[in-house]
Amino acid sequence: MSTLTTHKASKLEGELSLPGDKSISHRALIFSAISSGTCEIHNLCSGEDATRTLEMFRHMGIQAEFPGGTFLSVTGKGLYGLQEPSTVLYTGNSGTTTRLMSGLLSAQRFFTVLTGDTSLNQRPMKRVVGPLRQMGACIHGRNDGHYAPLAITGSHLHGIDYLMPVASAQIKSSLMLAGLYADGPTRITEPALSRDHTERMLEHLGIPIKRKSETVEITAAAAIRPERYDIPGDISSAAFFIVAALLVPGSEIMLRGIGVNPTRTGIIDILQAMGGRIELLNLRTVCGEPVADIFVRASRLKGIMINGGIIPRAIDEIPVIAIAAACAEGTTVISDAAELRVKESDRIATMTSELKKCGVTVQENEDGMIITGTEQLEGARCQSYGDHRIAMAFAVAGLIANKEMTIEDSGCINTSFPEFMPKLTELIR
Ligand code: S3P
Repeated sequence: MSTLTTHKASKLEGELSLPGDKSISHRALIFSAISSGTCEIHNLCSGEDATRTLEMFRHMGIQAEFPGGTFLSVTGKGLYGLQEPSTVLYTGNSGTTTRLMSGLLSAQRFFTVLTGDTSLNQRPMKRVVGPLRQMGACIHGRNDGHYAPLAITGSHLHGIDYLMPVASAQIKSSLMLAGLYADGPTRITEPALSRDHTERMLEHLGIPIKRKSETVEITAAAAIRPERYDIPGDISSAAFFIVAALLVPGSEIMLRGIGVNPTRTGIIDILQAMGGRIELLNLRTVCGEPVADIFVRASRLKGIMINGGIIPRAIDEIPVIAIAAACAEGTTVISDAAELRVKESDRIATMTSELKKCGVTVQENEDGMIITGTEQLEGARCQSYGDHRIAMAFAVAGLIANKEMTIEDSGCINTSFPEFMPKLTELIR
């Protein structure tokens, strides 16, 4: 198993572009594969998770290649052009692949089996299996569909009116993909708005959907047009550099072309409320998604309360926000975040235990953490628990710790951001 060590940095300086947003990459791959022609995807996320989705489509007869190594060219076969794969489809560590594809595959005319790695096969799947079954899907899985492997026999679906118990873009998008094939409208309401990349991409593709606050309604589509997708830099990857630049004294960095969809910018709002000097410049829209350059300067941070509707807007960034909180003056209280317990690791438990190793006072609660900022983080030997965002959060902590920080089992960083260390090294002076 690989380990990663980071050291105290004197400052971070310079500018970077980042690989494409992981969530948007999955969706661009899906809509390209079921489109009726050749699509181009530029700046596709190079992480293993997006590759799982791509590989899955290759197993279902979709041709996709990188001509000249720049963009991905995908030849779509239409809404009903996918072929039954001859093997089990492996989704690795990717919850997005498993859940979104479950919706799409429920409506195909063939049989598939999805399975993932140890962590993925312990994550809750009933949240998609339940409503998909209500739509007429035929899905079997371990423990009555609570866990993968999932076996799906494609069926004729009908729309439902579904009130989601948790805010989750994966559940919403899975049902929307099923709804693209269903008889009658599929109406989905969330308790708080989660990332809306599926909605924006469908709107950009000219597919009529209805949206009103936390409700979205979709009806069957006749066809998906071929498209060129330009994927913005991933704000969830940018988050690590934003926090690093805020914490390392004297730092000043510019991150170019980052996605700043308001359903994802909870990290910016939270860090600004903590006193972070972050500016969004050159705001523009690309393929229906807001994009900006993000300018960050080292700042003194203070503890705040983080709860309510901002949680789904920052859900993947809580590990690195916890590092910022550990270095802030005062106490930060994170609550309403029980969803963190069912991510790639139980992020409340894993952040609490690893922050304690760095000398931080943390109280673990059922739905969050209370973190008391410290003057000086201690370098330690931390575990990633196979969770990419835990590994990168502690790599950032190493830049301001009193001695080196070692992260065990750091290979998981490749699931979302293989370029993390080379890009970080580019900024370190
Ligand atoms: C994602 C949705 C979120 C997020 C995940 C990506 C997506 O998960 O944590 O990393 O692309 O739809 P949930 O829908 O489970 O909140």
